Amino acid sequence: MRIQGLSVADVVKEFGTPLYLYDAEKIIQQLQNLKNAFSENEVKVKYAAKALTNISILKLLRQSGSGVDVVSINEAKLALGAGFEPADIMYTPNCVAFEEIEEAVSLGVTVNLDNLSALEKFGQRYGTGYPCCVRLNPHIMAGGNYKISTGHSHSKFGISVYQLPQIMELAQKYRIAIHGLHIHTGSEITDTEVFLKMAEILFGIARDFPNLRFLDFGGGFKVAYKEGDLITNVYDLGLKLGKAFKEFYHSYGKKLELWIEPGKYMVSEAGVLVVKTNVVKTTPSVTFVGVDSGLNHLIRPMMYDAYHEIVNISNPSGSQKLYSVVGNICETDTLGAERKLNEVREGDLLVIKNAGAYGYSMASTYNSRFRPAEVLVINGQARLLRKRDTFEDLLRGQLDIF
Ligand code: LLP
Repeated sequence: MRIQGLSVADVVKEFGTPLYLYDAEKIIQQLQNLKNAFSENEVKVKYAAKALTNISILKLLRQSGSGVDVVSINEAKLALGAGFEPADIMYTPNCVAFEEIEEAVSLGVTVNLDNLSALEKFGQRYGTGYPCCVRLNPHIMAGGNYKISTGHSHSKFGISVYQLPQIMELAQKYRIAIHGLHIHTGSEITDTEVFLKMAEILFGIARDFPNLRFLDFGGGFKVAYKEGDLITNVYDLGLKLGKAFKEFYHSYGKKLELWIEPGKYMVSEAGVLVVKTNVVKTTPSVTFVGVDSGLNHLIRPMMYDAYHEIVNISNPSGSQKLYSVVGNICETDTLGAERKLNEVREGDLLVIKNAGAYGYSMASTYNSRFRPAEVLVINGQARLLRKRDTFEDLLRGQLDIF
C-alpha cells in the first residue's frame, strides 16, 4: 500500500505503530470537490474541526481556503492558533456555561446559540452589539444511526422550530442581531432529499429574519466505508441545494452566503490507522488477531457499530482466512469481526481504513496506553505531526499527594 508513492510499510519503519497516517492530497481534493459541487453559489466550507483537530491539519485546510467550525472554546483557540481569522470561525457549542460564550465573543468568532436560555443571556449582555447565529432543531430524523442523529425531536441539539415564537420574542426584546440560521441534522446522511427538506424548513423560517448574512446547512456527508456503500452525492447536493438557495435569496431580497460544515467528508478517507499484529490466537470457534491498538485509538466500531475496512499489507498474496481483529484493551474491543484477510502472522501490519475522522480526536489513554503518533504525507514526504505519548504524558498534571 502506498500514499503519494510512499510505501506505508516504510513510513512505519520510521515512525512505528500504532500510527495515524494522513494524506494531504486527499484532504485538499475533498475540499476542492465541495467547491466544485457548489460552484455557482461560492460555498463557504467550515471544516468541522472535531473530526481531526491536529493543528497542522487545521493549517493545511486554512491554506487551502477552508473556514472552520468549532464546538468548544479550546477548538476556537486551536483554530486561531492555526491562523484562521475570527470571522472564519463558527463556534457552535452546546450546553456550555455562558462564560464560555462570553469568552468566544471576546475572541471575535461567530457565535451559534442552541438554546433559549443562552439566547436570552446573549441579548441581555450584548443587545445589538454583537451579531449571532441561531441553531435550529428541525425535528427530522436523519443520519447513519440514532447516536449520530442530531435534528430529531428528542435530540439535545438546537432550538426546536416549534419554539420560533420564543426566538422572535427574545430577538425583538433585546434587538439581537441574528445574522445566521443553522441546522445540522446528523452524520452520514446519504439522501439529498433530507438536505433539501431541511433547506425548505430553513428558508421558511429565514423569511422572518431580515438581517441575515448566511444560512448554515451543517455537515453530515457520508463517505464509503466499504465497496458499494451508499455515499452522499455532493455534486447532486451542490446542484440542487445551490439552486434552491439561489431561488430563496432572490425572493429574500439579498444575496446570502451558503455555509456547510463537513467533518467526515473532509478527512475520513484521508486517514488510516496502521497497527501491528501482536498475537494470532486460535480458539475452537474464532481466530483472533490481537493488535497493538484498540478502542483507545479507534472507538467508532464499538460506539457506533461502524465498519472500517482492514487490510493485511504484510502478506498481500497470502491465502484468505476468517479472523476477528481485536485490540489489546481490557474490554471487548473488536475492530472488525469475521473479516476475510490475507493470512495474518504475528508481526504483520494491518491498515484500518477511513480512520481520519473521529479517530485520533476521540482517542484516549484508557488502560494507561499511549495514544499513537500522527504523520502527514505531504509533497511526497512523511512528516511527523504529533509524537506518540510517553510515560511522562500519562503522569502530566497528576499531583502525588503521598
Ligand atoms: N456541524 C456540527 C454542528 C456537528 O455537530 C457536526 C458533527 C458536524 C458539523 C460534522 O459532521 P460530519 O460531517 O463529520 O458528519 N463521532 C461521530 C460523528 C459525530 C458528529 C458530531 N457532530 C462518528 O464518528 O461518526
